[in-house]
Amino acid sequence: MYNKSEIRWIFNNRARAGQYDRTPVTAFAEDEVKRVRSFHRSFSEYAPTPLHGLGNLARELGVKGIWVKDESKRFNLNAFKVLGGSYAIGRYISRELGIDMDKLSFDGLRGINDKENLGKMVFVTATDGNHGRGIAWAASRLGQRSVVFLPKGAAKAREQNIKKEGAEVHVLDVNYDDAVRYAREYANANNGIFVQDTAWEGYTEIPGWIMQGYATIAHEITEQLGTNGIKKPTHIFLQAGVGSFAASIQAYFAGRYEAKRPVTAIVEPDKANCIYKSAAVDDGTVHNVTGDLDTIMAGLACGEPNTVAWNILRDYSDMFFSCPDYVAARGTRILANPVSGDPDIISGESGSVGIGLLSLLLGREEYGEAVRLLGIGKDSNILFISTEGDTDPKGYRKIVWDGLMPTPGAFE
Ligand SMILES: Cc1ncc(COP(=O)(O)O)c(C=O)c1O
Repeated sequence: MYNKSEIRWIFNNRARAGQYDRTPVTAFAEDEVKRVRSFHRSFSEYAPTPLHGLGNLARELGVKGIWVKDESKRFNLNAFKVLGGSYAIGRYISRELGIDMDKLSFDGLRGINDKENLGKMVFVTATDGNHGRGIAWAASRLGQRSVVFLPKGAAKAREQNIKKEGAEVHVLDVNYDDAVRYAREYANANNGIFVQDTAWEGYTEIPGWIMQGYATIAHEITEQLGTNGIKKPTHIFLQAGVGSFAASIQAYFAGRYEAKRPVTAIVEPDKANCIYKSAAVDDGTVHNVTGDLDTIMAGLACGEPNTVAWNILRDYSDMFFSCPDYVAARGTRILANPVSGDPDIISGESGSVGIGLLSLLLGREEYGEAVRLLGIGKDSNILFISTEGDTDPKGYRKIVWDGLMPTPGAFE
């Protein structure tokens, strides 16, 4: 028998409570996000990533629509993260050079850099893989250097892909959160610029730019849903590591639709469920998870929430889920082997957990209460963002080809 209580959830009463002082989301207002997107448009690699409608899966699960944004197509980097890193580096350099943000463009920055021979800035970060690759990519295109630290157990392919972008790479013998502290100290000691995708008290500006950078995804989605005749999704499932990504998308939709915003669920691995834990303790502040953070969802293997992101998720998100690894493996397989007629999507372990979760919520009676509280039904249009492709191809094939982590109870 499988353990029926393995997927855990917390309903957030606070999200829909009457008026109170919610954390402002003005940094994600339409004008701000338009500016971010126009910076991204200035890259020759820029194109909106596809938003796929999985109409047949939706029919099978008994909802109106399932929409999956495929971020494996982002700038040929197989993940969304470059949106944040490139925008933060762009903002930083333009401030150093005194350039007006409205005139900020990638080519413009490169041109000024070449002309004025600024010399090499060194951007320093820690990463599970995707963020570091984005930083290395953006730094090298702007003629700057980068130094990237990975936590122990990082997949070889992820390390090599960062090296290919010209970064100096070090794999440490510590978990993600300690790698972040190490990178910060390294940057301080070596006159580097620390560009981390998480915030804490006293370090919020650069992570704030990174979070704004991710909002290009939400901006594209609203446009793409519009061309499909859909004004807004009814529900959004967002996966979280430190929560920067989820909070960025949450904040954009909260700002745009206010009280009529989509119902949002935050999804984490149970081995690194720091947002879930913070919601469970419910004293309004962040609570960390420590140890090896041993999960196949490498991009979500973070034990310390971004404090700015947490404030947004705490105030606007409706439910927090903590999921075992098999949920992500199931999601990866569902997207790779779609219901006939739907497109197939290569979605890595950190990209697919939301789809795996929905399939189980709607497929097993034991989750009926969560489905009821979320208000998911036949009129729901549900949005997912597959945040990465097969960034660890060996791990991906173990799941899809070899059936790693089958769903407990599936054969009973
Ligand atoms: C593929 C992927 N998805 C989601 C996330 C989660 O982002 P965050 O750490 O901002 O919550 C990450 C973070 O690295 C990631 O690599």
